[in-house]
Amino acid sequence: MLSKKMQEALNDQMKWEFYSAFLYLAMAGYFLSKNLDGFANWMQVQMQEETAHAMMFFKYIDEAGGRPDVRAFDQMENEYKSVTDVFKATVEHEKLVTKRINDLMDLAVKEKDHATAQFLAWFVKEQVEEVAEPTKILEQLKLTKEQGNALMMLDRELGQRVFNPPAAAAE
Ligand SMILES: [Fe+2]
Ligand SMILES: [Fe+2]
Repeated sequence: MLSKKMQEALNDQMKWEFYSAFLYLAMAGYFLSKNLDGFANWMQVQMQEETAHAMMFFKYIDEAGGRPDVRAFDQMENEYKSVTDVFKATVEHEKLVTKRINDLMDLAVKEKDHATAQFLAWFVKEQVEEVAEPTKILEQLKLTKEQGNALMMLDRELGQRVFNPPAAAAE
């Protein structure tokens, strides 16, 4: 059974995962407006992943005896100066999410809520990748200096990304 505090914290994280999905879809829209369809594809896959994360929280809160409480969020940032700017924002966002997941884990441990700690362990691991992937793209972008050919090559590469539903979400 979830404590009231744990339930609220999990619901808050569910909201953050949906927020992440929206943020990345907004970034995909920005890339489409720049005719960078590959970058847009990468962000749409990112949106699908975040939606899957949010639904994992939704499902877990219910299974653990709580109430999934879905709330809207305030207006978010949707202006970017460059492709690099978008990936800087992505890396910063994922670092923030990592901190939030770690704080949630701290709370579960403090409350001796082993089931929730087990559930969160998947996210702790996932966040390592979630920071590493956009960091790598950010580094590659620096190498391209956002110049024509190199940028188009990276765009083509990112266009190959496909969504694989997280195994834990399919349980
Ligand atoms: Fe996520
Ligand atoms: Fe993420």
